[in-house]
Amino acid sequence: MESRRSVLLLLLLLLVATLMVAAAAAFLEDDVVLGAVARLGKGANASGRGGPSCDVDVDISAVVGGSSRGWKEEIAGMAGRPEMAAWLRRVRRRIHERPELAYEEVETSRLVREELDGMGVGFRYPLARTGLVATIGTGRPPVVALRADMDALPIQEAVEWEHKSKNPGKMHACGHDAHVAMLLGAASILKARERHLKGTVKLLFQPAEESGAGAKRMIEDGALEGVEAIFAVHVSHQHPTSVVGSRTGPLLAGCGFFKAHILARRAGADPVLAASSTIISLQSLVSREADPLDSQVVSVAMVNGSGGDPAAPLVLGGTFRAFSNASFYTLRRRIEEVMTLQPRVHGCEASVDFFENQSFYPPTVNHPRMYAHVKAVARALLGDAGYRDVPPMMGAEDFSFYSQAVPAGFYYVGVRNETLGSVHTGHSPYFMIDEDVLPTGAAVHAAIAERYLAGGAEQHSDPRFAGTGAVNS
Ligand SMILES: *[C@@H]1O[C@H](CO)[C@@H](O)[C@H](O)[C@H]1NC(C)=O
Ligand SMILES: *[C@@H]1O[C@H](CO)[C@@H](O)[C@H](O)[C@H]1NC(C)=O
Ligand SMILES: *[C@@H]1O[C@H](CO)[C@@H](O)[C@H](O)[C@H]1NC(C)=O
Ligand SMILES: *[C@@H]1O[C@H](CO)[C@@H](O)[C@H](O)[C@H]1NC(C)=O
Ligand SMILES: *[C@@H]1O[C@H](CO)[C@@H](O)[C@H](O)[C@H]1NC(C)=O
Ligand SMILES: [Zn+2]
Ligand SMILES: [Zn+2]
Repeated sequence: MESRRSVLLLLLLLLVATLMVAAAAAFLEDDVVLGAVARLGKGANASGRGGPSCDVDVDISAVVGGSSRGWKEEIAGMAGRPEMAAWLRRVRRRIHERPELAYEEVETSRLVREELDGMGVGFRYPLARTGLVATIGTGRPPVVALRADMDALPIQEAVEWEHKSKNPGKMHACGHDAHVAMLLGAASILKARERHLKGTVKLLFQPAEESGAGAKRMIEDGALEGVEAIFAVHVSHQHPTSVVGSRTGPLLAGCGFFKAHILARRAGADPVLAASSTIISLQSLVSREADPLDSQVVSVAMVNGSGGDPAAPLVLGGTFRAFSNASFYTLRRRIEEVMTLQPRVHGCEASVDFFENQSFYPPTVNHPRMYAHVKAVARALLGDAGYRDVPPMMGAEDFSFYSQAVPAGFYYVGVRNETLGSVHTGHSPYFMIDEDVLPTGAAVHAAIAERYLAGGAEQHSDPRFAGTGAVNS
């Protein structure tokens, strides 16, 4: 009797303890995870060397205190370690100091390979000249890909700071240095969590996003073999530091250039007159043929006369943009027709070049399910305030080549901080980022891949994901 009572008492105590732990975990789920990620990058210790060692079970308890919890706490905890922030900052700054242009990313690519070697992550190199694909996980399907671009811009940096570009006339003015650092951060998190991966993650470090269509060459070299979905992030000065933004469907415009050479074919023919009427006809493509609800732009930006030399061609150049894939390709076809046929009316002959290997970027279109996945993971990790839907933008991205090949999710992560002055648009010589974004980017990347491979079962049971369609079966 006595012993039975003490057993009951023990059971009761156990029950109370379990309830208290559960309540604490439920409380932590929203607040501490958000807090941990919001603090990622703060209090960084820059004196350490080498990549962080990511021992999950030890680190989590250090950050959120207590026993091992779910993926959110674990990933946020790993990304939130001061050593992680310090390492990512160092990597980003090394790349920032030595910017390299399209297909010249030799040092950047070497740095990536050395860091991967240090983590024990295998990779295939080279693809697309300087690119590489690292692999983490079971080595078996399903395979999900994450992508970072490595190239800089031909811009002279105007920001005066310790880690200013040391390569004259070149600058990481689009944040690709941060993209590389964040993907390396994801590699280190995913490698430490390899036993949790229910498939394979491929990490694409690609050259030549700004020009040269590096993504296209990566695909030609087999970067997407076996890949069933792909995700990428781009830093944005429009959103506060570490806030993630995306949208479903068309996100970024398609962008192309054209250049025509117009030559007189018979005596008395006037290439200038031919060019003038061609320009007028080009204008009507958008004003008369395009759906006004489907934004499109055609603009002639350059006319170079032959200077009176009848044998020299007149050169007409310009650019076009469109949001939907169909309009983009229709526009290209119609521009070609107008530019070759209209000069004939005036006794001239024309040839058009669309620079398809260099600067012909189709629209970037988010797959509804991949968009929902990005949104669900970002909200789980950063809280509801850490995610927002954003409007489409006219800029272009060569990520579109991947998004044409497999279901894709492209998203932004904010780097805007008024105090720091990181408020300038990409491609500005004053562009800068709030480096506190780096651990967040690494965590979101890693979580997107891991949760993708885990399928949607767990997400289904979370009421916050209801209706987002964040299931990846
Ligand atoms: C930073 O790391 C160094 C070397 O590991 C250590 O001596 C120092 O105490 C650390 N500082 C902080 C603020 O953590
Ligand atoms: C314009 O054409 C002339 C003669 O062909 C050439 O020398 C010049 O470089 C061209 N200018 C531009 C901006 O293309
Ligand atoms: C475009 O690139 C492909 C391979 O990437 C090559 O086969 C083709 O010749 C290139 N075309 C031009 C016009 O350079
Ligand atoms: C876009 O259109 C082109 C040309 O019609 C086609 O080859 C391509 O597969 C289309 N891409 C998508 C994602 O629909
Ligand atoms: C902006 O950066 C400063 C300096 O690192 C930091 O103290 C502040 O919290 C940041 N503000 C935001 C909104 O992140
Ligand atoms: Zn750019
Ligand atoms: Zn960019």
